[in-house]
Amino acid sequence: MADHAFGNVSTDLKLTKIEEYLKAFATALRPQFSELWYIDAFAGTGERVVKQQATPDDLLPGLEEKIERRRGSARIALDVQPAFDRVVFMEKKRSYCKALEGLREQYPGRQIDIVKGDANEAVTSAIRDIRWAGKRAVMFLDPYGMELNWTTLEEIRATEAIDVWYLVSLAGLFRQATLDPTKLDEKKRAAITRMLGTDEWFDAWYDSPQKQDLLGVFDEVHQRTANVEQIEKFVGDRLGKLFPKVLKPLRLKNGRGVPMFSLFLAISNPAPKAIGLATRIGNSILKP
Ligand SMILES: C[S@@+](CC[C@H](N)C(=O)[O-])C[C@H]1O[C@@H](n2cnc3c(N)ncnc32)[C@H](O)[C@@H]1O
Repeated sequence: MADHAFGNVSTDLKLTKIEEYLKAFATALRPQFSELWYIDAFAGTGERVVKQQATPDDLLPGLEEKIERRRGSARIALDVQPAFDRVVFMEKKRSYCKALEGLREQYPGRQIDIVKGDANEAVTSAIRDIRWAGKRAVMFLDPYGMELNWTTLEEIRATEAIDVWYLVSLAGLFRQATLDPTKLDEKKRAAITRMLGTDEWFDAWYDSPQKQDLLGVFDEVHQRTANVEQIEKFVGDRLGKLFPKVLKPLRLKNGRGVPMFSLFLAISNPAPKAIGLATRIGNSILKP
């Protein structure tokens, strides 16, 4: 089976939060809806391989590294009780899809779809023509970086039936939005705009103070002034303009304490009852 080694100290925290939400969502909505769905648009393999250096105490000759296999989001969702009626896994990598097929065999009798391809196209075609009356879904968007297009979020919002957990890559945005704007080429600009659905980020994140040279000529010198708080707030505000409700995100850091991701919960159903329930559950889970 294809091994999928990824994550850092925040990965377990992130997956624990998702699991808590899925359990609470399924328990609360089971009596009210005929179909509950889980859609994992960046599904991985269902498993996470964690490589750990062995401590001197447990070092045996030839054994320098411990390999631990932990549950990934796909398996976590399949284990949730009450069970989801339909589970859709989307994944770009062929070998990971094969691993997901192996996972499906371990859950006979469950309706599990595996879609190989780009998440943006897969999400759009999976949700667009569905009659959502009587159905509710949770979607997990867990990309490595900036793979998710804003237009895909618009499709999700339009269903009015999906609660979406979106892991936003702060590190990706920081990397693309270079401090020095002369290094901000067209490709970088386009990647940020595709992810955020607007080019307003440039004016919000870059300052243009005037600088006077020795001859007294004024020149505009741009530089990125937005810090991690401002970038996260910009993303939150954008999501807040699209979705009826977006909760304050959980900031996830790497082992050195550097902010890497923000985990957002956005609710697409505008009904006050739906917002109230998702907010209550989400807020209790998102508190740091
Ligand atoms: C962070 S991992 C997901 C981990 C998974 N949620 C888990 O807990 O096991 C991101 C996954 O997205 C896949 N991926 C990357 N780009 C993609 C795209 N454009 N569409 C679909 N899947 C993609 C990668 O192959 C990888 O398996």
